[in-house]
Order: sequence, then structure tokens, then C-alpha cells
Amino acid sequence: MDLIFATGNPHKVTEVQYLLPEGIRIRTLREIGIEEEIPETGTTLEENAILKAEYVRQRSGQNVFAEDTGLEVKSLHNAPGVHSARYAGPARNSRANLRKLLRDMEGETDRRARFRTVIALILNNEIHRFEGIVNGHIAESASGSGGFGYDPVFVPEGFDRSFAELGDEVKGRISHRARAMKKMISFLNTLRIQP
Ligand code: IMP
Repeated sequence: MDLIFATGNPHKVTEVQYLLPEGIRIRTLREIGIEEEIPETGTTLEENAILKAEYVRQRSGQNVFAEDTGLEVKSLHNAPGVHSARYAGPARNSRANLRKLLRDMEGETDRRARFRTVIALILNNEIHRFEGIVNGHIAESASGSGGFGYDPVFVPEGFDRSFAELGDEVKGRISHRARAMKKMISFLNTLRIQP
């Protein structure tokens, strides 16, 4: 089965490819000639995931999935959430976002946070949604060189190092994106065993 993954983020493509079983092949936007940035004007992760998947479905006519991810910090009333990419401004600068987050959390003792991913899959014109969550906390400072985005400051529950220190294997096992992907893969597997 071929599925388009509607993202321009190469880190996400790598993470998702790592999880795919044989028999599901993803094609990237570049491979199908979509180079422009897809508008993300929704007010929730769900809306944005669907917007992105529908945008690509309309242009390609093919089965597609998209995902949207947010970092939800308890003491910031679940911010940055759906605004995670533009937390420090419209430039979508990951380092600036991370610096702003650490600044906003200065002196805060409740550092609980979670990553939440929503995947929208459009398969034969029907939309299916899958959610993945990983709980954790925001470290006092950034550490590690793996991953991307907020990974250097996010410490998942049960660990004492950041996602950026823990690396691909752990992220591929327990991350928000991995959990949502595993649900989508299970769903696709149930379809394949239908007569
Ligand atoms: P989006 O889903 O691409 O809109 O991502 C929203 C923001 O969250 C961006 O700033 C990303 O860098 C960040 N982000 C998305 N997924 C992850 C992740 O797995 N780890 C760390 N940061 C992430």
C-alpha cells in the first residue's frame, strides 16, 4: 500500500519510516511535486491535521495522512499547544521557541507537560483520526543533540534524560508520534485481513 505523508519536515519522515512495516510505503510531498507550505489555519491539532491531509488529497487524488503535534505544558494552561511551531513568532524558529519556553518556565516548579500528536488519514475519501500522547516534564535546561524541535527540553515519564539525549530507538518506542502511528498501522492491518 502506498500512502502520502503530508509533511515538509524531514525529521518526521525519518521517524515515521522507522515504524512502518513491510507492505506500507510512504511517499513524501517532494516525490509528488508539492513544494509549497501547506496552510495550517486550524485552531486545534485535529483541525490542522485534517486541513493538511485534505489539501494533499485534493491535489493528488491519493490516500494520504498528515499529523499535527503540540507540546502542552500544564502550568502554561496547555500552551504552546497548537501554536508550538510559532511560539516565539512567525519565523517558526525551533531554537527561539525553546528559549522562550525555558524563559516562560523560569522559577516554575510544576513542570509537567505532554506531547500530543493527531494523525488524520484519508483513505478512500474517509477520514480516520489517531491520537498519541507521551507525558513527561520540561527540563531546567536543554540537553542532547538528537531529535528536533522541543526534544532537548522534554523528559518523558520514566526517564531522566531528554528525548534529544535518549535518541531514535526510545523515541520510536514511546513518543507521541510513534503511539499515534502504531494506532494507524494497526487500523491499516485490520483492513488488510478483510476478505
Ligand atoms: P508541527 O506539528 O510540525 O506543526 O510542529 C509543531 C511544533 O512542535 C514545531 O515547533 C516542532 O518543531 C515541534 N515538534 C513537533 N513534533 C515534535 C517532536 O517530536 N519533538 C519535539 N518537537 C516537536
